[in-house]
Amino acid sequence: MQLRGAREDETDRLARLWHEAWHDAHGAILPPALCAIRTFDNFRERLHAQLPEVRVAELGGKAVGFHIVRGDELDQLFVAAPARGQGVAAALLADAEARMSAAGVADAWLACAIGNQRAARFYGKAGWRNAGAIHKSLPIPGGSFELQIWRFEKVLPAP
Ligand SMILES: CC(C)(COP(=O)(O)OP(=O)(O)OC[C@H]1O[C@@H](n2cnc3c(N)ncnc32)[C@H](O)[C@@H]1OP(=O)(O)O)[C@@H](O)C(=O)NCCC(=O)NCCS
Repeated sequence: MQLRGAREDETDRLARLWHEAWHDAHGAILPPALCAIRTFDNFRERLHAQLPEVRVAELGGKAVGFHIVRGDELDQLFVAAPARGQGVAAALLADAEARMSAAGVADAWLACAIGNQRAARFYGKAGWRNAGAIHKSLPIPGGSFELQIWRFEKVLPAP
């Protein structure tokens, strides 16, 4: 497995991965109004805007997951369904933690949809603590979508 920055020419592929993995994990647990907003084009636009921050996991020459760190927040972590349960997500999470730590972040956090049990189990295995439900404003075209989410936290070791 290789971890690397995202390339401009794979924006569509990564947006497709994000779109599929997001709906796979959230379609049954998030409000239908939010699910309707999260179209392929919406993911593509958001991905393109953040491309320099996107870190990709490549397996057998194929992009199978990515993460996006924003300051002290692990903003996104998604792995394609066929690549789950194989350590890809753990490698991406370790990379995200290392990058935050190198940037001076000691107290990292992330938002997880309430009821996303697989993700919650995964973060718990990696030493992240569920600090409970908080309110988050999610970016949507022309505004924000207000949602209760689980806040996970981890104290990162000094680099
Ligand atoms: C969340 C994600 C990154 C984790 O990666 P992964 O490769 O699936 O993680 P792992 O397989 O190492 O760990 C998942 C754990 O949850 C368990 N699990 C699977 N389905 C579960 C469920 N429905 N409820 C509870 N636990 C579940 C697995 O058995 C595993 O635990 P184990 O190692 O003790 O057996 C990946 O599943 C993913 O991309 N999901 C879709 C998008 C998503 O939810 N992203 C996170 C947004 S916060």
